[in-house]
Amino acid sequence: MSKSNHILRPRECTAKSPAEAPSQLPDSPAIQRTEIAINPVTQQDQLLNCFAAVPRGAEELAAAELVVLGISDAKPGKGGVSFRTDRAGLYHANLWLRTASRVLVQLAQFPCSSPAELYTGVHTIAWQELITPDMTLAVDCSLRDSALTHSGFVALKTKDAVVDRIRESCGSRPNVDTALPDVRINVHLHKNICTISLDSSGDSLDRRGYRLERNEAPLRETLAATVVALTGWDGSIPLADPMCGSGTIPIEAALLAAQIPPGLQRQFGFQRWLDYDDRLWNNICAEAEAGTRRLPVGLITGYDLDNKALLLAGRNSAKAGLEGQIHFFHAALQDFRPEGDKGVVILNPPYGKRLGEDDDLRELYCQIGDVMKKYCRGWTGYVLTGNLELAKYIGLKASRRYVLFNGAIECRLLKYDLY
Ligand SMILES: C[S@@+](CC[C@H](N)C(=O)[O-])C[C@H]1O[C@@H](n2cnc3c(N)ncnc32)[C@H](O)[C@@H]1O
Repeated sequence: MSKSNHILRPRECTAKSPAEAPSQLPDSPAIQRTEIAINPVTQQDQLLNCFAAVPRGAEELAAAELVVLGISDAKPGKGGVSFRTDRAGLYHANLWLRTASRVLVQLAQFPCSSPAELYTGVHTIAWQELITPDMTLAVDCSLRDSALTHSGFVALKTKDAVVDRIRESCGSRPNVDTALPDVRINVHLHKNICTISLDSSGDSLDRRGYRLERNEAPLRETLAATVVALTGWDGSIPLADPMCGSGTIPIEAALLAAQIPPGLQRQFGFQRWLDYDDRLWNNICAEAEAGTRRLPVGLITGYDLDNKALLLAGRNSAKAGLEGQIHFFHAALQDFRPEGDKGVVILNPPYGKRLGEDDDLRELYCQIGDVMKKYCRGWTGYVLTGNLELAKYIGLKASRRYVLFNGAIECRLLKYDLY
């Protein structure tokens, strides 16, 4: 499958003079130089300082995913994983990471307590080697515990420094396009240290491309993948989701078991960069496609009371390349009877904050406990909920609890060993 459709291949700008267009970042004591591969031919193997942004609670999992991809120096921290890799590794990370929300490539880091320091630090980067005047850009900004407190202002000041630098080199400047920019710049200020990065993912990585419409309370794809990873399920025993809604958990489990990369259906930010290597990317995708496998009947099943949600689950799984490989059934939880003497059952019941009210849900949580206790012996049960009060009505003792976030909602994934 060719991945080169709709990819912008802009012209590089011709700099006015070598003095105006340094080929390297200057060695300023304030700027930690990070080497970004600019020329695809001469700098293909150059190592890039990367950061995979990860929802809280999934940092160790994302680091383990990177190790499987052959990136051994992955260091999990708060909110993400730092690692160094070459361009092929960057492409692999975007294609394969199931739990990360984006992959940033760091360009520079400098102390920054004032607008002037911000402007100078950003202006020092040789932007004309990364963005030409006929490309578009957008700036995302996040701030924490810093003197500069207005993210809109920081983004604007950064944009000014970038376009000024390009105008000085090329004679004209690129435009801003917040919706679909060629280059997405990320500014992160933490304790007055500013990190400037390029966002290699573009759209957030949870947008796999298979979700056609949204049902009422769908799980984010990265959260569903995190849940599956935390269960330790490896595709060797059945997995069932008795409240599957639009099917996000079964689909993420199926992508994992079928060895399908979650990013195979979508485009990435790096595909619009000047150094984009189409042949390298196509080879990586072709290799991934060749390694997929078909899932055995009955391995992954989903159930729900809501026919509309089930219709969506079927459509989404077909779009994800899993047609006929996940089996969805219309059934109420109280009728759920898993087959086989062991497996993993994952439930993501409504928890009141977004669907229904607590009073109506107490009985449902009691039923979850009853069904797991009576009919799921030998299986391992998991319940993802954002409501710990309701979780008490399950009436079973959880053997493990994981803290996860569904957007801003703090959730628990509760594990039940069902004897
Ligand atoms: C929070 S949603 C699940 C969302 C799902 N994980 C997704 O990504 O789309 C809860 C689901 O439980 C289903 N549900 C509620 N009560 C049920 C019951 N008694 N039996 C089966 N399904 C039920 C709802 O129809 C809804 O689809």
